[in-house]
Amino acid sequence: MHMRTKKWAKPELSVCPYYRDEPFQLKGKWRSQFPEDKPLYLELGCGKGVSTAKMVFSRQDCNFIAVDITSNVLGDARRNIERLYGKMPVRNVLLSRFDISRFDEFFGPEDRIERIYINFCNPWTKRPKYAKRRLTHTRQLMQYRHALVPGGEIWFKTDDDTLFKESLPCFEESGFEQVTLIRDLAASGFEPNYISEHEQMYRDLGVPIKFLIARMHELDAEGQARHDAVIEEVSRREKSERQRASGTADGEDGADGRTGL
Ligand SMILES: C[S@@+](CC[C@H](N)C(=O)[O-])C[C@H]1O[C@@H](n2cnc3c(N)ncnc32)[C@H](O)[C@@H]1O
Repeated sequence: MHMRTKKWAKPELSVCPYYRDEPFQLKGKWRSQFPEDKPLYLELGCGKGVSTAKMVFSRQDCNFIAVDITSNVLGDARRNIERLYGKMPVRNVLLSRFDISRFDEFFGPEDRIERIYINFCNPWTKRPKYAKRRLTHTRQLMQYRHALVPGGEIWFKTDDDTLFKESLPCFEESGFEQVTLIRDLAASGFEPNYISEHEQMYRDLGVPIKFLIARMHELDAEGQARHDAVIEEVSRREKSERQRASGTADGEDGADGRTGL
């Protein structure tokens, strides 16, 4: 499914005071972008920001960064935030567009992220080899470690049984312990739960939502060796991708909800 380009999205984002257009320049400096230093939470693949807007509005005690790979949906996220804040200045959220698979290029330890939200990411279940592209694959989780504070958490929700089942060992081998594991979020009554566009869609279809809170702990020697090997592979891949892409224009890469990536 191809999402039609929203012509208004880029112009609106370009004048949005809380949109950051050059995220690679902010690695290690994200905290300085907020008027007040507060616990920093990050949402990966925020989509149209339906839950993001509700969450950031009701948690003024925290700062948030919401990231997606497409301007189209970030345009909607901005509008959803504006709608809720009304005349109130938006001071506790930043929106930015980049590819989270290159997480290490955008975040570092100085960013001291306390929580990462991953809501209804692309399950990549069609072929086993695609699993590496998941935002919950070990290759990603090991990168998130670099920017999370010790004891930092990942809050992960999905409708997809295979994605959930296959992500659990990835969390474990990446040095995250399960704090909360729920197989039917709606029935559990867990609070707070900010319902996203995709969560609402699957709830309406009667699909149980799987939910995990995983907390980062220190890696033992074996885990550290695994970490180093994964990160080395990620850097090698990034280097060769950069070489391949050099000379080509840096456009949007067509990520469109679950189908584009
Ligand atoms: C299925 S949608 C979910 C959106 C929202 N979180 C929700 O629950 O409604 C997945 C979102 O992740 C974004 N996304 C997927 N892969 C990404 C990547 N590598 N980097 C940044 N965003 C990505 C997509 O553009 C899309 O908006």
